[in-house]
Amino acid sequence: MEQIVQQIEAWKSEIDQLQISNATALEEYRIRFLGTKGIVKGLFGEMKNVPAEKKKEFGAVLNVFKQFAEEKFEAWKQQVSEGGEGESGLDLSLPADALPLGSRHPITLVRNRIVSIFQRLGFSVAEGPEIEDDWHNFSALNLPENHPARDMQDTFYVKNPETGGADWLLRTHTSSVQVREMEKGKLPIRIICPGRVFRNETISARAHCFFHQVEGLYIAENVSFADLKQTLYFFVQEMFGKDVKVRFRPSYFPFTEPSAEMDISCLICGGKGCNVCKHTGWVEILGCGMVHPKVLENCGIDPNKYTGFAFGMGVERITMLKYQIKDLRLFSENDVRFLKQFEGA
Ligand code: PHE
Repeated sequence: MEQIVQQIEAWKSEIDQLQISNATALEEYRIRFLGTKGIVKGLFGEMKNVPAEKKKEFGAVLNVFKQFAEEKFEAWKQQVSEGGEGESGLDLSLPADALPLGSRHPITLVRNRIVSIFQRLGFSVAEGPEIEDDWHNFSALNLPENHPARDMQDTFYVKNPETGGADWLLRTHTSSVQVREMEKGKLPIRIICPGRVFRNETISARAHCFFHQVEGLYIAENVSFADLKQTLYFFVQEMFGKDVKVRFRPSYFPFTEPSAEMDISCLICGGKGCNVCKHTGWVEILGCGMVHPKVLENCGIDPNKYTGFAFGMGVERITMLKYQIKDLRLFSENDVRFLKQFEGA
């Protein structure tokens, strides 16, 4: 027993010299002295070998040692949790770890850019539902049922719980928002309609089943094709720079007459001819035209008093040209290696 008491004294002075300032060292100490297989437990196990008349005295020595070891533990524990300086000690005065910040998606960047250019010309933003009815997406726009031009805008149909029929659809363009604005009957109208649209297309580098548009509409008295050209010319210069040339090609849309498609001189080769412009020197960026009188009538606007122009462009197309992106699918795959390239853009 004498020997054990001496050993206890040695441990006491060892503990007195310990300096514990981090959680790892503290845990090591706890396991060594206070753990289930630790020194203190072991000492109490020795009790059975101590002669009966000495048990009381030995018990007292053990209890003093146990209390000493526990008090030390509690004191260090307090210190460590208040922020010891050790490797895993918590120092609340240090600055926090930086949170990894994301960045805007290139489609958002370019859409915002397009919107702000038109806002400077007095256009305001109008939005509408992505699930539409036939009237707002097609019929009001002079695209009656069985019209062959519907073929180019095949879409996805949704069951309407009110009728039980599949007579709702995912909008194929944001022209549906223009119809909704015209139906409100407040003139003049000068709006742009950014938003997501859907088409039943096979997914490839050039086509997707969903993409984004910005469409525009200006209706007032005496709006002419010259206004349309000048507005779009301003847009192109602001978006792509002063050196870009534009050209209008006659085209067909059921909701505009006359209709045109607008090309810009190829940004990649400067008009000399390359793969992107298929060696023509020009790339198409949008469709436009004067709003068809039938459409105005459908929306309750007097075509003898009012005229207007409309245009529509794909945000993906503009973004691909601006950043020379060759595959449309990159926009929706959420690959950070792609997205990271637009940080700070
Ligand atoms: N709505 C047409 C489309 O999505 C684009 C367009 C808008 C063309 C307005 C002319 C006028 O293809």
